[in-house]
This record gives sequence, structure tokens and C-alpha cells, in this order.
Amino acid sequence: MDQDWSRWLDEVPEEGESPSPAARSKAPVARLRKRRGDSGAPGPVQRPILVVGGCGGAGTTTTALGIAGEIGAAGAQTVAVDATFAGSDLALRGADEHLSPISLQSWLYGRGEDEAAPLKECLSRATSGIGLLWRDPEPLRRRATYLTVARAIADAGYTPVYDGGNPIAGRHLRPLLEDGDIALVLAIPARADAANRLRVTLEWLDDQFGGPGEGQGEGIVGDTTIVVSHQLPGSDSRVADHLREHLDGWVGDILELPYDPHLARGELVRHSDLAPGTRRAYRRLLAGVAS
Ligand SMILES: Nc1ncnc2c1ncn2[C@@H]1O[C@H](COP(=O)(O)OP(=O)(O)O)[C@@H](O)[C@H]1O
Ligand SMILES: [Mg+2]
Repeated sequence: MDQDWSRWLDEVPEEGESPSPAARSKAPVARLRKRRGDSGAPGPVQRPILVVGGCGGAGTTTTALGIAGEIGAAGAQTVAVDATFAGSDLALRGADEHLSPISLQSWLYGRGEDEAAPLKECLSRATSGIGLLWRDPEPLRRRATYLTVARAIADAGYTPVYDGGNPIAGRHLRPLLEDGDIALVLAIPARADAANRLRVTLEWLDDQFGGPGEGQGEGIVGDTTIVVSHQLPGSDSRVADHLREHLDGWVGDILELPYDPHLARGELVRHSDLAPGTRRAYRRLLAGVAS
């Protein structure tokens, strides 16, 4: 890629000035994407989605719940999955109907060695109709990874929305990032420092998962949607506008999630209590990463 990511916030380099030596130190991983329609299922298929935070408190968990709620509202069997390293508050915040005592790990090893228990019986539940899987802080056992998790969820016929937390470089997220079928959503709060730190994350993604010969707007970065979440009252779009100015044509899309008083409480989220503008924003986000 001929873009020098390390300078995207700076002035354009002088003509003739050589770009910084940002040479790749590792061979890129080609993300594999199955061709649509291979499954034989009719109509467009909702892609699984991985939401990752550019920093802590980025709105990652909130966004994963909101997206899952909208997929569920459209009638698809949906599960919000805790894919953080040590366990997030995903189910505590999202299971407004039933909090199951069964963790992701207990479900995954439910039938002994390598077979998962029936997913439906293990899920926590939200009144929006979605299921939720929380995880305990223990590592996955017996060489299981989130690829194992993803396969078992697909076998059960559910669309997963993963809350990957942060940082994106966590090893456990690699199998999800390597799967080109999974749409990537990168959340940041509407703050200048978070926008600046995003650069390192995008560079890392490009370095680790970019394929050879990919141009502007292609590859994993071109397939990434940036979500700027407003966690304080007001609708100052300067951070999002700044990103649009500098990242337009490189990332897939840049969307804002409006401040929502219901989300600002930091308590149990009831999807039907979200403001209409918030739900519209989730639907727009979903439409962009639909299939
Ligand atoms: N659109 C929003 N409006 C108001 N508050 C929000 C919004 N999105 C997130 N928040 C609040 O910001 C805080 C951080 O969000 P959270 O989703 O937990 O981030 P993360 O999972 O990245 O740590 C939470 O207390 C949440 O309630
Ligand atoms: Mg979180």
C-alpha cells in the first residue's frame, strides 16, 4: 500500500520527500472471505460482526448490544457474544429479561470433549429477542479459540455480534479478524485523543491483515466501519468530521452514534427504551455492513 499511514493527521509531505520507513515487518495475512451464496441460503445473509474499541470506554459494548438488538428486531436469530479477554459487562448490561448462569465456556464444553450444548438453552435473554453469551475470565480450554466459538454459533443458526473490547491486538481476536466474512466495527468516543489514537490501530490492522497489492479503500481497513459515539450531551461532530476529512476513501464508513440519555445511565439497556435517533443510527450502521 503506498499510503503512509503514520502521517495521516499531519500535513501532506513535500513533493519528493520520501515516506517514513514504515516497511512491514511481517508477512500480511490474507483474510479469507467465503463467496456469498455458498451456503445455499436464500436472500442476503447478515454478516457476523465484531465490534472492537479503539480505547477503553469507547462505546464498544453499547454498540454491540445496539447492533444485535436491531438484527434481532429484523427477525434474525441473533446472539451478542462476549469476546473480550477476561469478560465484559455485556450480559449484565444487555440481558433485561433473563441472565443465564451458563457461561460461554460452559456452553462450549457442555457435552464433554468437543461438543457444545444446545445454544438456545444456554443463552441469557433480552426483551428485544436477542440471546447473549457472557464469558468467565478463564481461558478457553483444549485449544479452543473464538474460531471454535464462531463455528458452533453458525452450526446453531445464529448471527453473532461480538463484543471484542479493547485492545484490538489481543491474540484471542485473531481468528475473528482473519475471517473476511466478519464485518469489523471500530468504536471510539467523540474525543480528539481517541481519534488520534485510532491511527495506530488502523496501521496495525493494515500491517497484520492487509493483503499484498491492496490499494486505497481495500483490504481490512477498507472493510472497517468507524463508529464515533457521543457519550456527553450535545452533538459536536468535529471529531467525526476530522476523521471523514482524513480517512475518507480509506475506511469503509464513518458513522456517529448520538448521545442517548438511556445509554448514559450506564445501567441495564432496554432496546425499546432507546431514542428513535439512536435506533436509526444502529440501523444505518447495520445497513452498511449488511452483507
Ligand atoms: N450513545 C451514547 N449515549 C450516552 N452514553 C453512552 C453512549 N454510548 C456509550 N455510552 C456510555 O459510555 C460508557 C462507555 O460505554 P461502553 O459501551 O461500556 O464502552 P466500552 O465497552 O468500550 O468500555 C458507558 O457508561 C455507556 O453507558
Ligand atoms: Mg465494554
